[in-house]
Amino acid sequence: MTHPTIGLYGLGTMGAALSLNMADNGIQVHVANRTASAVLRFMEGAGPLAEKIVGHQNLEGLISALPQPRLLVAMIPSTAPMDSFLDDVIPQLAPGDTVIDAGNADFHSTRRRSERLAQHDLHFVGLGVSGGEEGARNGPSMMMGGSEASWSGLKQILTRIAATHEGDPCVDRCGPDGAGHFVKTVHNGIEYADMQMIAEVYDLLRFGAGRDVREVSGILKSWNEGRLESYLMEISGEVLSYADAPTNLPFIDLIMDRAGQKGTGRWTVIEAVKLGQSATMIEAAVAARAWSAEKPLRGMAEETFGADRADLDLDVGLLERAMLAARVLEYAQGFRILAAASEEYAWNLDPKRIAEIWRAGCIIRARLLDDIAGAFADGPPEGQLFLAPRFGGVLMEGIPALREVVTRAGQAGYATPVLSAALTFWDVMRQGRGTASLIQAQRDFFGRHGFERTDQEGDFHGPWWT
Ligand SMILES: NC(=O)c1ccc[n+]([C@@H]2O[C@H](COP(=O)([O-])OP(=O)(O)OC[C@H]3O[C@@H](n4cnc5c(N)ncnc54)[C@H](OP(=O)(O)O)[C@@H]3O)[C@@H](O)[C@H]2O)c1
Repeated sequence: MTHPTIGLYGLGTMGAALSLNMADNGIQVHVANRTASAVLRFMEGAGPLAEKIVGHQNLEGLISALPQPRLLVAMIPSTAPMDSFLDDVIPQLAPGDTVIDAGNADFHSTRRRSERLAQHDLHFVGLGVSGGEEGARNGPSMMMGGSEASWSGLKQILTRIAATHEGDPCVDRCGPDGAGHFVKTVHNGIEYADMQMIAEVYDLLRFGAGRDVREVSGILKSWNEGRLESYLMEISGEVLSYADAPTNLPFIDLIMDRAGQKGTGRWTVIEAVKLGQSATMIEAAVAARAWSAEKPLRGMAEETFGADRADLDLDVGLLERAMLAARVLEYAQGFRILAAASEEYAWNLDPKRIAEIWRAGCIIRARLLDDIAGAFADGPPEGQLFLAPRFGGVLMEGIPALREVVTRAGQAGYATPVLSAALTFWDVMRQGRGTASLIQAQRDFFGRHGFERTDQEGDFHGPWWT
């Protein structure tokens, strides 16, 4: 039996883990790295799997060892290094070969690179890989964007190394060119919102309701047994259970409250706005990270205005219901961006399949995704998740809880950017008639922009112009 063969360039955290995963699954892997010494180190660390991996001292050796049509994965920064990599490899490849960018790329770059490679009769694949190092090693969720032809070559490899949910591999072709990287970007945007939401609830429980950090850990762990089960809930419960060995202080208290970000959350927000959408929960999470970085300023403001917050007697069940409703709305916002991009770029994205491939291996895997896939299979009204009958009960029960949590948190002085954004989104979307009539009047008043009327067809100006 011949083994499927693939080349992988870039043996950093993710590339090394993916290579081992492939070798573990009967795939013949050839590897190389910019700094050649990393290849030797990697091979030494691969243990018995090293027998199934061929290390090369340089890119030329790697490419010439691959059978045609070649499959060549690059796991390097998807920015300028990827363009330089393509400069190097294009002259060495043959028509029909496929280059796969498995990093976190801006999907606009992926579209541009796809066009560039197509001019040389080469395929370019943008592969979103989620699950961090552990996922890459043991089964990531993967979102593929590229031609049907490149998918038929890659499918047998990717389905072998992907995470599975009840036997279903968490990988699929999402659409052409940048579709996979776009879906991965929105995945990360949802990840930002979910992480921030859990952090807000932690703040309310610990500092509002006065629960000991271990109690909060226990609450998150118990939620993780129920409808809120998710990887992010699981790890949040776990990290809160650690104490610092020398001091016995909660370990979380020793971590600086300044969050980093690499850009995918911001990209989600930018693309949403460009598409005429607004993912306010993701935007709130990106804002919260940005504000967190301004620590000296926050310290100064605290000295000036005080940081007093009142006690909050919040029921744990109320918070759980509020969070579940907010999580439905967070995914609803994410899928709205996907739908808008699908239309704009004619990708024909399948929301049901995207929900399915997010059910295992990725950072936003959650029990809810099974229901989300089911809701899309049923075809929710207007394609909107928040109108899906199967979420009616969760929202009817959860929105009053969310309203109570956000209102009381606000009164007591607790910031809940993502939970508040969820409530606002809900309250805007359930109003058949909103406030935009006054916006239209203002626009017409200062700029003669005109408006539609509710009682007549046509374009009108207000009496202020007569
Ligand atoms: N870490 C994660 O959890 C995660 C998850 C999903 C996706 N990703 C994406 O995966 C990609 C790799 O991430 P990583 O975490 O594995 O990074 P990493 O550990 O820092 O490794 C980076 C790799 O890229 C190579 N590289 C850097 N600059 C290069 C250049 N100019 N030319 C050629 N090779 C270059 C490095 O080679 P040297 O050894 O020579 O420096 C190394 O092999 C990134 O696009 C990242 O966004 C990461």
